[in-house]
Amino acid sequence: MDTGMREDSDRRSEGVFRTKSIEQSIADTEDPEHGLRKELSVLDLVVYGVGVIVGTGIFVITGSVAKDYAGPAVALAFVVSAVVCGLAGLCYAEFASTVPVAGSAYTFSYASIGELPAWIIGWDLILELALGAGVVAGGWSGYMVELLSHFGIDVPKVLTHDGSGFGFDLLAAVLVLVLTGIVLVGMKLSARITSLIVAVKITVVLLVIFAGLFYITGSNYHPFLPPSKSNAGSGSDLHAPLVQIIFGFTPSSFGVMGIFSAAAVVFFAFIGFDIVATAAEETKNPQRDMPRGILGSLVVCTILYVAVSLVVTGMQKYSELDTSAPLASAFKAVGAPFWSGLISFGAAVGLTSVVMILLMGQTRVFFAMSRDGLLPRAFSQVHPKFGTPYRTTVLLGVVVALIAGFFSVEELEEMVNVGTLFAFVVVALGIIVLRRTRPDLPRAFRAPWVPVLPVASVCASLWLMLNLSVETWIRFGVWMVIGFAIYFGYGRSHSRLGRGR
Ligand code: ALA
Repeated sequence: MDTGMREDSDRRSEGVFRTKSIEQSIADTEDPEHGLRKELSVLDLVVYGVGVIVGTGIFVITGSVAKDYAGPAVALAFVVSAVVCGLAGLCYAEFASTVPVAGSAYTFSYASIGELPAWIIGWDLILELALGAGVVAGGWSGYMVELLSHFGIDVPKVLTHDGSGFGFDLLAAVLVLVLTGIVLVGMKLSARITSLIVAVKITVVLLVIFAGLFYITGSNYHPFLPPSKSNAGSGSDLHAPLVQIIFGFTPSSFGVMGIFSAAAVVFFAFIGFDIVATAAEETKNPQRDMPRGILGSLVVCTILYVAVSLVVTGMQKYSELDTSAPLASAFKAVGAPFWSGLISFGAAVGLTSVVMILLMGQTRVFFAMSRDGLLPRAFSQVHPKFGTPYRTTVLLGVVVALIAGFFSVEELEEMVNVGTLFAFVVVALGIIVLRRTRPDLPRAFRAPWVPVLPVASVCASLWLMLNLSVETWIRFGVWMVIGFAIYFGYGRSHSRLGRGR
């Protein structure tokens, strides 16, 4: 770094807005004890992306969203969500190609906006990834229960979230622990298993689309967008989307607003393309491959989701869709139990890769935060043989197993969405800041129409956030307050950047 640049970066390094230089971020990855292996290609990234993106969102959440918010127009909700993700994806791609180190939005914001925003984002990403892994493990367990029932094995209600009262989802918890073991052993093994599982999952999705085409009944598409229905008096306002409460609307579902509520919920189905960016440090040629990996996986998934949702709502009336295994149940409903069993099997196999990649993503963010001293440094020790951050992997694996056991998909899912959308907002702002503060940095991929595009991304993400429930916002607020307490109680004084000064 030349002297002028160093002085400039020193000026920006005071207090909670101190930024870590991009050069320092890259140099950190070359520290042998705290660096990860670089061995992923662009194909690995797309497989990794599709591996984590296609999951509980399309396999499980489609059913409840069509039923409660949008009817067959759930396909439009997927398009709305995809547009929001596409805008954010272009911002992510520029960041990932400029700052090719572990940590995703966390690292990007540390290098651009400052330490406190970076902490907030890292804390937020841990929420997204840990709870996301829990949600998908819950979805997996639902399809496993369905599959086992095909063989005459009934899982006791107390070991699922199906029954009323207390339930501990044992299958989900065991899955998380087994996959934690695989992640611990190393990237290579994980990537190989992932490719195989992704192949099974995509085959099943294509099978739903093409086999399902033969069972579509046109009348199921009428009405395509059911008219708006008031929910007044049907429950507490805490379940209503925040935007309806802010503008004093009577809480309602369906209608045009229903598409947006649905988009905010099915957004979960797209989570994961941002996680591709967390693998930048392990990519052979991040400058060229990251944007291709991120946007490529997003496009493939959007096409699949629109097709699946159109087929499923054409096969069965939206009001009759099942909420725990809708794809399999639609085939059962049209008298095709063989396809139903096969789909349950494929879904159960396919969802494992999603849980695994979410687990891997969260360990990488935690690892990066620990390497920077914002969390205890002991967590960033890399295993001498496996080359993975083993302490972080084990700690988070156990925590996620407990979360997956105790909480249901519905209880966790919206929290994941609000956290992820918030990360999108910070990344989009970060791109504007970084273009101004470091115009000199080489960018293998430049997002078009800056600052218009990032501003549009911020507005779109905020709009979806506002369509999430009041309850979700309250829980998110509590999580953030805990995060602030940890930063000011520990991270701020232990930060390597702060100490170096
Ligand atoms: N997008 C992933 C899913 O739908 C997280 O399961």
